[in-house]
Amino acid sequence: MKIALTYNLKKKDDTKPADYFSECDSAETISAIVAALKKKGHHVEAIDVEYPRLFSYFRENSVDMVFNIAEGQSGRFRESEVPAILDYLNIPYTGSNTFSLALALNKALTKKILKAENIPTPNFQVFLKGTEELSPELKFPLIVKPNCEGSAKGINKKNVVHNAADLFKRVREILDTYHQEALVEEFIEGRELTVGILENGKPKVLPILEIDFSGCRNSGEYFYSWKMKEHQGNKRLGLVPVFHCPARLDKETEERVKDVALKTHRAVGCLDISRTDIRLDKFNTPYVLEINPLPGLDPKESNFPIMAYADGMQYEDLIEAIILNASERKGLN
Ligand SMILES: Nc1ncnc2c1ncn2[C@@H]1O[C@H](COP(=O)(O)OP(=O)(O)O)[C@@H](O)[C@H]1O
Ligand SMILES: [Mg+2]
Repeated sequence: MKIALTYNLKKKDDTKPADYFSECDSAETISAIVAALKKKGHHVEAIDVEYPRLFSYFRENSVDMVFNIAEGQSGRFRESEVPAILDYLNIPYTGSNTFSLALALNKALTKKILKAENIPTPNFQVFLKGTEELSPELKFPLIVKPNCEGSAKGINKKNVVHNAADLFKRVREILDTYHQEALVEEFIEGRELTVGILENGKPKVLPILEIDFSGCRNSGEYFYSWKMKEHQGNKRLGLVPVFHCPARLDKETEERVKDVALKTHRAVGCLDISRTDIRLDKFNTPYVLEINPLPGLDPKESNFPIMAYADGMQYEDLIEAIILNASERKGLN
């Protein structure tokens, strides 16, 4: 097959905030996907989707399929930019459509759908101005997050707050820095889980990944904060989470967690691939934090490939599975 890989490259630019490129993909990820596609016999070209390159490329080249991992340029619909252009040009692509990508990027809106579907998600409130009254239903500790960011942008240990003064301070900082509403949620103490779904005709849940931060306590970081994600594996900083895949869960809890992830994947309408982030509380209730329709695919660092490897797949099998599932859907969107 002739395949174009669409991506936004992580760049070094000291004039931008430290987390500016956090959602983008590294050169290592791009090379790994290109190598995997070639290994499976495809012809592939990698396209950094910076304007206007995308348009000129598709004007001059016809492809059978786009392998899309592009995070987009800016704004709350950024992940939908490339799929929208591809829909307009009638070019098939892997992964979720414009609608699901935009929905999943809006954490609060996704949570409203989860609540309507009886999928557990932490109680929450959205702050648009920072002057709203805190709902008496929310119990401290709370966590404050930008509503439409990924890669833990804007999320650090200061975001977990234990009183109203700290809460409103952090809410205002988020509003000012990220120019978007702040999502305030009950902080769920407990295990951190993430669940990968890979469709093969129908959605298949991969072995659950548990990320244990208990060995990172000396660093001061104790959950999947921006610093933890950005410097994961850095021994000097003490940011060395331990991965357990499959997660250390009893059978009944495992089934409940898988069921919740599958329902979330379906409720948001994800296609081919998704990764749902979950916190398991002390009563073993799996609370969905968010779903990622474009999970990181770094062959060494990212959560999703770890789950695929635990299922017996090689990296190139994972990439090929995404292509195959999208190809079967071709013409059906
Ligand atoms: N309500 C919560 N309770 C406990 N931990 C949370 C909560 N929300 C976020 N976190 C922590 O912050 C991390 C990042 O939050 P998440 O909502 O997944 O945002 P992102 O899109 O940036 O990954 C989570 O993986 C988890 O470690
Ligand atoms: Mg997350």
